[in-house]
Amino acid sequence: MQDLFANDSERAGRMTIQWADFFLDYSKNRVNTETMSLLYELAEEVKLQEAMTAQFTGEPINQTEGRSVGHTNLRDFDSMKPEVAEILQKMKAFSTAVIDGSWKGFTGKSIKTVVNIGIGGSDLGPNMVCEALRYYKNHLDVRFVSNVDGDHVMETLKDLDRETTLFIIVSKSFTTQETLSNANTIRSWFLERAEEENIEKHFAAVSTNLEAVEAFGISSENIFPMWDWVGGRFSLWSAVGISIACSVGYDKFEELLRGAHSMDQHFRNTPFEQNIPVTLALLSIWYNNFFKTESECVVPYSQYLHKLVAYLQQGLMESNGKRTDRNGEPVTYDTGTIIWGSTGTNAQHAFFQLLHQGTKLIPTDFIVFAESLHGKTDHQNKLLANCFAQTEALMMGTYGSEVENNFKVFGGNRPTNTLLIKKLTPHSLGALIAMYEHKLFVQGVVWNIYSFDQWGVELGKKLAKDTLRAISEKDVTGIKNKSTLGLLGKLKG
Ligand code: F6P
Repeated sequence: MQDLFANDSERAGRMTIQWADFFLDYSKNRVNTETMSLLYELAEEVKLQEAMTAQFTGEPINQTEGRSVGHTNLRDFDSMKPEVAEILQKMKAFSTAVIDGSWKGFTGKSIKTVVNIGIGGSDLGPNMVCEALRYYKNHLDVRFVSNVDGDHVMETLKDLDRETTLFIIVSKSFTTQETLSNANTIRSWFLERAEEENIEKHFAAVSTNLEAVEAFGISSENIFPMWDWVGGRFSLWSAVGISIACSVGYDKFEELLRGAHSMDQHFRNTPFEQNIPVTLALLSIWYNNFFKTESECVVPYSQYLHKLVAYLQQGLMESNGKRTDRNGEPVTYDTGTIIWGSTGTNAQHAFFQLLHQGTKLIPTDFIVFAESLHGKTDHQNKLLANCFAQTEALMMGTYGSEVENNFKVFGGNRPTNTLLIKKLTPHSLGALIAMYEHKLFVQGVVWNIYSFDQWGVELGKKLAKDTLRAISEKDVTGIKNKSTLGLLGKLKG
């Protein structure tokens, strides 16, 4: 890369994409013009445009589950399905009443705390967005309980007042062990000081499984339906995002959706060469399949985005961690990359040593906002300087300079993308999330795998049932594995 830059003064200007408030600089990658055109040709060859049309027009592209993939419909204000518009109105009314205090708890007090009970896509998306939009939040304390770890539940409940707390159970299936266990524990905790008839003022739910929600005792006005054409990890745009609407208000939630929709339009209507998600996906494929890199790092230079990586891990790894192609045959090439990372500048003082001088090649996305929210110019200048300097250091290394010993040599030539966004707003955040959604979609098309199912999570869930019986009922008949039996034997009681 050092030579590519030295020999081509136009490179930095050419390998960029400006779209709305987004500026992508991908010049610090191990590619030249020919590489890029071959990668774009690859996208043509796998009929990416047709695949995009199939997704956006509702074909059942999630074939192993016989479903269409419609999360982009949830934010398509140009041609919104009536059932989606209806739920948005319901979310607006609900969140407004909770925020303005007209929603009263069972003793007549307004709500102060909202607790989202869910896991995976029913937690990571809303949780990440609520953190990312903290600057815009109102007085409500919005919390998340996800882990089946009872300590997580009890820590969350510890200082809560039943009279002023609203619980939202979010589970697409309403069968998820963690969520139902947590919901039942919280329900019992609530009923220690309240009556069954008070539940309707303190519990709401989001699910496709309306019967199970009603059986739980939640009144129909407090139920937000969702649809099987929305995958869990793509569901924050649906009523799963109700905690976001409560935290920042419905209007800002809608801005988030509109931002995502603008990225959808960019993705659908822009030639591949100027298309941000397509370009990012192809670069990622370039390293994954031609350099055999195993992982990709994502470093947002914004503390507000401290949950982005965990969110992307589900999005990208649950979608593309597959080894069977669309013909049902084992793939003969690598698919889903491992996603990891943390916020800058913290990450610089933790794992950046390995990025700079380790033996592994780790392509990294740097994400940074040109403007800060609190207007601390000195801090913002330092944040930006660190972000840009790191990408330069990773690319240049100590190339061309005298270094006193090998310990101080930086090889450079380490690839990065820099995404400079004007400002962190609900709109730009929506676009950023949608950008990664489309990136993973493109990768799934090129790798010829089905990105929208997640069979890989089922086996562990099944085994956990037998293991739970072994632990709670001391019945080990279903347990065959000696190691597991050994572990069970070590439990007291
Ligand atoms: O663990 C797999 C998974 O099905 C995710 O895809 C999903 O987001 C999560 O569990 C939670 O599922 P649910 O919303 O049905 O409780």
